[in-house]
Amino acid sequence: MSVKILGTGSAIPARSVTNNDLAQVMDTSDKWIRSRTGIGSRYIAISETSNDMAAEAGKKALEDAGVQPEEIDMILVATISPDQVMPNTACEVQKRIGAHRAVCFDLNAACSGFLFALHTASAYLSSGFAKKILVIGVETLSKIMDWNDRSTCVLFGDGAGAVVVTDGGELPYEAVVGSTGVKGEVLALDGRKNNNLYVQNEEKNAYVTMDGQEVFKFAVSTVPKITKEVLEKANVSVDEVDWFVLHQANERILQSVAKRLKVSLDKFPMNLERFGNTSSASIPLLIDEMNRNNQIKEGDKLVLCGFGGGLTWGAIYLVW
Ligand code: UT7
Repeated sequence: MSVKILGTGSAIPARSVTNNDLAQVMDTSDKWIRSRTGIGSRYIAISETSNDMAAEAGKKALEDAGVQPEEIDMILVATISPDQVMPNTACEVQKRIGAHRAVCFDLNAACSGFLFALHTASAYLSSGFAKKILVIGVETLSKIMDWNDRSTCVLFGDGAGAVVVTDGGELPYEAVVGSTGVKGEVLALDGRKNNNLYVQNEEKNAYVTMDGQEVFKFAVSTVPKITKEVLEKANVSVDEVDWFVLHQANERILQSVAKRLKVSLDKFPMNLERFGNTSSASIPLLIDEMNRNNQIKEGDKLVLCGFGGGLTWGAIYLVW
């Protein structure tokens, strides 16, 4: 099982909202947000939607890969903030980019969503079912935040990232993925309740709720563990890795992981200062930036790592 990334793309809303902008409308400060998270601003969708951004990121990834829409066998979209329940976001992307042959479905694994989607893609590729797959992570988290809860709303942002992948053949690839459903309540969004005769609609949990400290502890203990596990499977040492591309949740989480792995923080690219936490979109957004800046070179060894609601987690080792 292996994947080769052929091209990348991304899309973000026009409007960037700084910490100081938020401090105008709620009881917070640039100092608090920066010191606790490393976040300085985030993009917030005004007119853009998840469908818009997913399609734009997908189109750019196809262009970068030099792949025509008709060549795509499958579109996988990871998201927890689709515009509509049905049709799924992947079908909307298919319609907009003209990938008529593709099988399309969405996948929800919160901040591990892109990681799970990429691993799912690798399974379809290795089975021979698909030759080229478009994998997208997209979120408009601003729509599912409680803007009266300063402990969550300041953390998250909107955007989309995409990759086109094909079977990597002999290229090294390993993955470790997992979930702990019993811990689900620490990062949750009940959303719309079943509004039937027996269960009336409640607004109470219509927005994201989070026990920040529990999620923090989960992240700093799980990420180093699964990184070591995936590298052990790949028979590669921590020092040999060129880039640790982690879900962009919090700079302090990344610092702690780097310290626990005894690796320089320089190997942990970050863009959360400008984007905040974009959940499923964070890893492909970062990969696209690195690709377009020529920061990643052919042959570079990467560990991608996602963690979040579910609880879910995953690490993938791959070679660029
Ligand atoms: O994709 C995974 C998503 N989740 C995460 O990555 C979250 C992981 N957790 C974290 O990043 C941190 O727990 C937070 C950044 C969410 C919070 O940092 P903390 O150091 O755990 O702060 P805290 O929750 O203990 O809150 C400390 C204080 C509280 O005030 P008191 O009770 O000490 O007076 C909060 O009310 O900070 C207050 N506070 C704020 N103050 C200014 C909470 N949010 C804010 C805010 N601005 N936005």
